[in-house]
Amino acid sequence: MIITIDGPAGAGKSTAARGLAQRLGFTFLDTGAMYRAVALAVQQAGISPTDEAALASLLPQLRLEWQGGRMFLNGQDVSEVIRRPEITELARQVADSPSVRQFLGQLQRQFGQRTNLVTEGRDQGTKIFPHAECKFFLTAAPEVRALRRWRELRQLGLNIPYEEVLRQQQERDQRDAQRCLAPLQPAPDAIIVDTSHLSAEQVLDLLEEHVRRRLQGNANR
Ligand code: DC
Repeated sequence: MIITIDGPAGAGKSTAARGLAQRLGFTFLDTGAMYRAVALAVQQAGISPTDEAALASLLPQLRLEWQGGRMFLNGQDVSEVIRRPEITELARQVADSPSVRQFLGQLQRQFGQRTNLVTEGRDQGTKIFPHAECKFFLTAAPEVRALRRWRELRQLGLNIPYEEVLRQQQERDQRDAQRCLAPLQPAPDAIIVDTSHLSAEQVLDLLEEHVRRRLQGNANR
């Protein structure tokens, strides 16, 4: 079974996807971490994130592994470093590359063939797993999402003013929505969940209830 969770940054996708996978005994996949790992590789290689030819020749050299909820790039655990703001910006740029999207899309589909999956990102229910059994689109008010991101950055030891976090997020939202390739939008059959006024636990309960109902429906068929 494939469960997709898409939505903008700060909607609580990672927490929900990780928790849901744990409750159901499924594998959790954070596809944003994959884009971020490619961004880190781009930074390390010193190439431009908009140089399509350079990206296309870099990708086959990369060994990307997602294991136990952690991201490895060429054997190194990069789970923390990929959360830094400069990688967030680079990731957004590499996410516009057709080569990168194709490369990561393929890796993501391979995951789906191997195991029961809860996968989160921007295009999982629309482009990568259009036939997923259960699709969610998580969203939240921009101010709530920015506050969550601001707290996350503080935990990384970065004191960026809240207003700046909100401004950068608005820019990213706009670009995510307008991207030619895989723009951020809910799949027509996605369940839309506004997490603005829900705790992480409440979101999880709600998603689990939907999935269990779906599983029950499948069993009764
Ligand atoms: O969810 P995140 O902030 O970790 O994602 C990092 C970047 O990758 C962000 O700019 C959106 C992009 N992304 C994407 O285009 N498609 C996905 N399936 C996941 C992330």
